[in-house]
Amino acid sequence: MRVLVIGRGGREHAIVWALKKSPKVKELYCAPGNGGIATLAECVPVSELDFEGISRFALDNSIDLVMVAPDDPLVAGLVDHLEEKGIPAYGPRKNAAIIEGSKVFTKDLMRKYSIPTAAYGSFETYEEALAYVREQGAPIVIKADGLAAGKGVIVAQTLEEAEKALREIMLDKVFGESGNCVVIEEFLTGQEMSLLSFVDGTTVRPMVPSQDHKQVFDNDKGPNTGGMGTYSPLPHIPESVVQEAIETIVKPTAEAMVKEGRPFRGVLYAGLMLTEKGPKTIEFNARFGDPETQVILPRLETDLLDIFLATINGRLADLELSWSDEAAVCVILASKGYPGTYPKGLPITGLENVSSDAMVFHAGTAVQDGVTVTNGGRVLGVVGKGKDIAEARDRAYAEASKISFDGVHYRTDIAAKALKGAGIQ
Ligand code: AMP
Ligand code: GLY
Repeated sequence: MRVLVIGRGGREHAIVWALKKSPKVKELYCAPGNGGIATLAECVPVSELDFEGISRFALDNSIDLVMVAPDDPLVAGLVDHLEEKGIPAYGPRKNAAIIEGSKVFTKDLMRKYSIPTAAYGSFETYEEALAYVREQGAPIVIKADGLAAGKGVIVAQTLEEAEKALREIMLDKVFGESGNCVVIEEFLTGQEMSLLSFVDGTTVRPMVPSQDHKQVFDNDKGPNTGGMGTYSPLPHIPESVVQEAIETIVKPTAEAMVKEGRPFRGVLYAGLMLTEKGPKTIEFNARFGDPETQVILPRLETDLLDIFLATINGRLADLELSWSDEAAVCVILASKGYPGTYPKGLPITGLENVSSDAMVFHAGTAVQDGVTVTNGGRVLGVVGKGKDIAEARDRAYAEASKISFDGVHYRTDIAAKALKGAGIQ
């Protein structure tokens, strides 16, 4: 088959890497791709939101399947566009991708179907939002309604911080139109878990759970990012809790989407808080997580293309998934200044010294005059595998330390929560 993956990050590099292993994949393309993806697939200079460019390329090149990985094109309806042109596409249609595109939609859906989540209010005016925040008090969580590159959520510890966030989102519009409406949520405490599932409408096939590290600095300090590192499995979280989340959150949500006339086909990502009162939903995404995918796909033993094809043919119920017991840890190497402003074009050294057992997924790189250079906030994801989290973590850090670019920053405590939970430092 001839397969085209849409996207340009570490997640897409991991997807391309997994698809490359499928004997059924004869030609692999990625639009637009990046410096790392180019070593596995032919990169096509068409951007994710250039719908006409993507469908034209797919038709001209007899593409059998387009896999749409990022949120923006999914929410904007790329899958619908491709299907209208008769091109098979993997990912939710626009009316289902709204589960990520609008936090208000999703909170209302969860309320209607009694799916566990934080208590909330949603507001379209600054004055009403401010009154609610003052009534609830801090800590409190403020979320811009629409997409904001993973940065539209402010966990305010004080009323002052909450009011500042409201002003920035609703009056100064730092996230643009995404801030026309806000969701204000109860602050939840507990361990976080990313639980992704393959869904074909009714059938839910959960992936192995993983945990992300959203804040930029060690000990969960500093502003939120797209994700600074991940690991899987989660040895400190009982399997019964994962099962509870599947039964009380993921399956009811897939069913709710079918009942709403918005069947979800693709990867449903549940961001969960494991509270004392059980798992509660923080967010849903309509796609693979980044960098969760970088630790999940190395553990997948089933052919990823078979899963995509079963999904679009509504046959996921016939496919059992198989996962390896190995652990995987991903450490993100970021540019100095991220998630704020950062330089680009800095030469990256040491990539050639990384052991072949480790994987380096490129997130924001480009090749300039034959040299791999930085080209984004998150630059590389170094994945170590091992018999357990400690071994995988040690391998990931040993390999990460071989790579360098000016101002490189990474967290040194990825997976520490799992090791502490299991009594290991
Ligand atoms: P989100 O983009 O919705 O995943 O939120 C980003 C991060 O903010 C999450 O990973 C949590 O760490 C935190 N967060 C979001 N909602 C809540 C909440 N209701 N209570 C506590 N922390 C939250
Ligand atoms: N790692 C968080 C996300 O993909 O949204």
